Amino acid sequence: MAGRVIAIDGPAASGKSSVSRGVAAALDWLFVSSGHFYRTVAWGTVRDGVSSDDLAAWISLRQLTLLNDNKDQGTTRNISLLLDGENTTPHLSEPEVAATVSLIATVPAVRDFINARLRALAEHHDLVMEGRDIGSVVFPETPWKFYLDASPEVRARRRSSEGAIDSVSERDRLDSTRATAPLIIPNGSIVIDTTHLDLQQVIATVLSYLDPLTVTPTRSVQ
Ligand code: CDP
Repeated sequence: MAGRVIAIDGPAASGKSSVSRGVAAALDWLFVSSGHFYRTVAWGTVRDGVSSDDLAAWISLRQLTLLNDNKDQGTTRNISLLLDGENTTPHLSEPEVAATVSLIATVPAVRDFINARLRALAEHHDLVMEGRDIGSVVFPETPWKFYLDASPEVRARRRSSEGAIDSVSERDRLDSTRATAPLIIPNGSIVIDTTHLDLQQVIATVLSYLDPLTVTPTRSVQ
């Protein structure tokens, strides 16, 4: 890992995505949603009608292309994904994807396929990467790990206010109980309860731990 990585993990609708975008914009680092990789694969399984028995063979034949986007919303450096040449961005919030993604995410061959690509990004970029296992599995060696949480009521409200049809509690259950890379608080992470904080307050809290980053990049935030 040549670049620096800020890992931000947490359950569904805990604010990871908006916070990670804000932190990436503040630092001018690349924002990466690892969930977009899982959603991309989930969409591909829906597109191709792949059964769980065939998933490992199917994934081994996939072509995933990463495109550097211009700054989205004018502020954040981002990437978009092509699966077998098709742009998956318009599909990532589809109900079939939300219903499938935590199932395909239990499959080790899928996780290996995605993790290799997430790690390759750090060869050439400083990253703010959000997900479920970024601090625990993908980049356990990074000194900058955060875990965001919020009450289940607030998380359900946030997600429905986005207009998304999403089984947040069922995904949380699957994500926390799976055998491979379950959602956990990674060792050494800073835990931030966002229940009573607005977006700017959470971004400011994360950034407040990062001053050492610009001074002595090898020092832990703790
Ligand atoms: O936005 P939200 O937090 O609801 O979900 P997401 O980040 O788009 O992730 C969608 C799903 O992908 C999660 O519920 C997990 O099942 C899976 N995922 C994972 O297993 N590991 C990751 N590092 C990221 C996502």
